[in-house]
Amino acid sequence: MIRMTWPMAACALALTVAAPALAQTKADAPIAVQIDTDAKGAKIDRNIFGQFAEHLGSGIYGGVWVGKDSPIPNTRGIRKDVVEALKAIKVPNVRWPGGCFADEYHWRHGIGPIASRRKTINSNWGGAVEPNTFGTDEFMDFVDQIGSEAYVSVNVGSGTVQEAAEWVEYMTADPNTTAGKERAANDHPAPYKVKYLGIGNESWSCGGAMRPEYYADEMKRYARFVRNYNPKQTGAEAMQRIAVGPNQADPAYTEAVMAAQKGHDWAWNIEGLSLHSYTTGGWPPSYSSTKFDETAYAKLLKETLGMDDLVTKHSAIMDKYDPDKKVPLVVDEWGVWLAPLEGTDPGFLVQQNSLRDAIVAALNLNIFARHADRVRMTNIAQMVNVLQAMILTDKDKMVLTPTYYVYKMYLPFQDATFVPVSFDAGTYTQGDVKLPRIDATAVRDTNGKLWLAVTNLDPVKPATIAPKLAGAETASAKGQVLTASRVDAFNTFEAPNTVSPKPYTARTTAKGLVLDIPPKSVVVVQLEPEV
Ligand code: AHR
Repeated sequence: MIRMTWPMAACALALTVAAPALAQTKADAPIAVQIDTDAKGAKIDRNIFGQFAEHLGSGIYGGVWVGKDSPIPNTRGIRKDVVEALKAIKVPNVRWPGGCFADEYHWRHGIGPIASRRKTINSNWGGAVEPNTFGTDEFMDFVDQIGSEAYVSVNVGSGTVQEAAEWVEYMTADPNTTAGKERAANDHPAPYKVKYLGIGNESWSCGGAMRPEYYADEMKRYARFVRNYNPKQTGAEAMQRIAVGPNQADPAYTEAVMAAQKGHDWAWNIEGLSLHSYTTGGWPPSYSSTKFDETAYAKLLKETLGMDDLVTKHSAIMDKYDPDKKVPLVVDEWGVWLAPLEGTDPGFLVQQNSLRDAIVAALNLNIFARHADRVRMTNIAQMVNVLQAMILTDKDKMVLTPTYYVYKMYLPFQDATFVPVSFDAGTYTQGDVKLPRIDATAVRDTNGKLWLAVTNLDPVKPATIAPKLAGAETASAKGQVLTASRVDAFNTFEAPNTVSPKPYTARTTAKGLVLDIPPKSVVVVQLEPEV
């Protein structure tokens, strides 16, 4: 059995791999989950549940934007069903317009009368025609409709500081300025709120293949000259500038950008460092999103748990330069990246979303929660129809994915306080892959309620857990469970509820309350202590 005391997640995988003769936890032996309700952990920033929407495949066109004249119900061209679904998961921020797309995006192509907008080529993603009908004003309308914040990535790769500065001026300047008048002429006199500004994207690769030091110098110019003029964006509302950071484990950008940040003066600063890391099962991605065996399942989970090592590694580097953790690590691209679905354009990154992906999402959200002192924002890739999507659409049809439901079940985690838990994770073994059998996190929500999330990684064996609160018995535990008959189960337009949450109630035994956690499941419950 493996004893895991959180937060010690960095050791989890190493421990499982290092211990050779591991006894299986019996399904009928309740695993005690000690919940240290007296300890107060970090705040789990709601931005950890952020989304990413790139001009890629049907991520925007078809998935979000259908146009004002579409027979698909829409509000000013934005599909109503998608807006309603996203409102329900309280998306805290949306990163847009890319991705690699951002470093070739010229914002002027996407404003003004739609009929006269330039049609360009999306050279990154399938060479599709980019109609530019979804531009700045449409994006701002979209984030407003879903009640979210804008995270706009400016073009560092093929653009200029001036172009980026003029874009943010257009979005935020006083309506009496020329830029503000132009915005007003496009039906929005009031300045927009640009809460987050991405200074480039993957500048170590598609964003210009820049040496870290070169990027750091460019970053300073953008951080200095791209100004936000919205008079309401002061203090806590001030725009946060997020610099390009590491690619996976590579420390080069982390070191260079954080060293630059440490040396900043009054004239510029950054308020975030980005990390990109996908779970791919190798490159190019060849794992199927619909048909896979248990070995592929276990391998992908093992890989995704590596997020903990990555975050730990980059956090340690950041600590050297920023011991007070003023600069958050922003994991603004993560998720499973699988083989394209048969019959789809490989450049459109279309994949299904199974129960396995929901488990991946829960495991990553748990990792982010445990690192909440440094990881204060993340953006899963991507929101609609691309990679590990929340939502899939096809013309007028829409279906919510298992990953969507994890985000819905984790709503109480938004802005909650982390509560440390410790438990015997046990071991799930598949071939030569060894994984923790269960994972668990607890939080106190903004109303003071205690929540426990448990994931059973074992696709075959159920687990029973006994939640133990510091100084009290657990009186009740109610919430939801997400599971299905198979790990490769997914939702379709015809069968949209194959993987959807069901009500869940704990079982009372003579020895107290226990939670039966089905194999391959995610359970989130609210715990009520006995009074
Ligand atoms: O999300 C797809 C792509 O992955 C993004 O455009 C890029 O930033 C990353 O490599």
